[in-house]
Amino acid sequence: MTQQLTAPGIRARKGGSPIVMVTAYDSPGARIADDAGVDIILVGDSVAMVVLGYDDTLQVTIADMAHHVGAVGRAGPRAMVVADLPWLSYHASPAETVQNAGILVRAGAQAVKLEGGSPARLVMVGALVDAGIPVMGHIGLTPQSVHVQGGYRVQGRELDQAEALAAEAEALASAGCFSIVLEGIPAELARLVTGGVDVPTIGIGAGPHCDGQVLVFHDLLGLEDRVVPKFVRRYASMKADAVAAVSLFAQDVRAGRFPSEAESYHVTGDTARGLDRGSSRTA
Ligand code: KIV
Repeated sequence: MTQQLTAPGIRARKGGSPIVMVTAYDSPGARIADDAGVDIILVGDSVAMVVLGYDDTLQVTIADMAHHVGAVGRAGPRAMVVADLPWLSYHASPAETVQNAGILVRAGAQAVKLEGGSPARLVMVGALVDAGIPVMGHIGLTPQSVHVQGGYRVQGRELDQAEALAAEAEALASAGCFSIVLEGIPAELARLVTGGVDVPTIGIGAGPHCDGQVLVFHDLLGLEDRVVPKFVRRYASMKADAVAAVSLFAQDVRAGRFPSEAESYHVTGDTARGLDRGSSRTA
């Protein structure tokens, strides 16, 4: 059996070959990501928007996340499985944070990710690491803070904000994070942050200088076609392909072309003769 990637293995990739992370929320998605050879599968709270139909990530609960982590974990990927701690699951107390993270680990995650680098967040990172749960940090544009950040806006364009983000990254690394997601920040700042911490940075909308890159599964495959952020590169048009395929099915059904003989089951022998007698009686 191939060895599953681990937090120390990812941590050791600092400055080495780029780390590839992609989100997945169910077993087929995890198998696609794993067959493609990604390093990390992130069960992101983006599940709220791309799968569950909500407008933001604030709607998902620890139970929702555990449900999706379980589906990903049951695919048995070689990639490391990281699960997002949802909004309010790591804010009240270290004990509650550890308990919630434990639910995701028991569901199939090897690590959790949380947003922010304030002193309050660092306490939670410390408690999780102390409990033996690897933590991935996430700073910059943090979708769980959409109301504080005034929308989904690039962060760190002003010097004071950029310096604060660089300091947060260093503090998260010191607190024990094995890697840090940098989302929606200028490439120049991402380069500075990446050079200033001894753990890998994984960028999304943060330019090319990070130690790895992450995209949302539905964005990179073109399954989500309503909003396409500037940083997304689409590698397929699966929404369009799926609509075309289902339209063909509908046309075949309506024209009586589906199912064919080969796609139907048949009876033979006595059963066939009995059914024939029955149909001649009802005719
Ligand atoms: O939830 C998510 O998909 C994420 C990525 C955008 C990093 O946090």
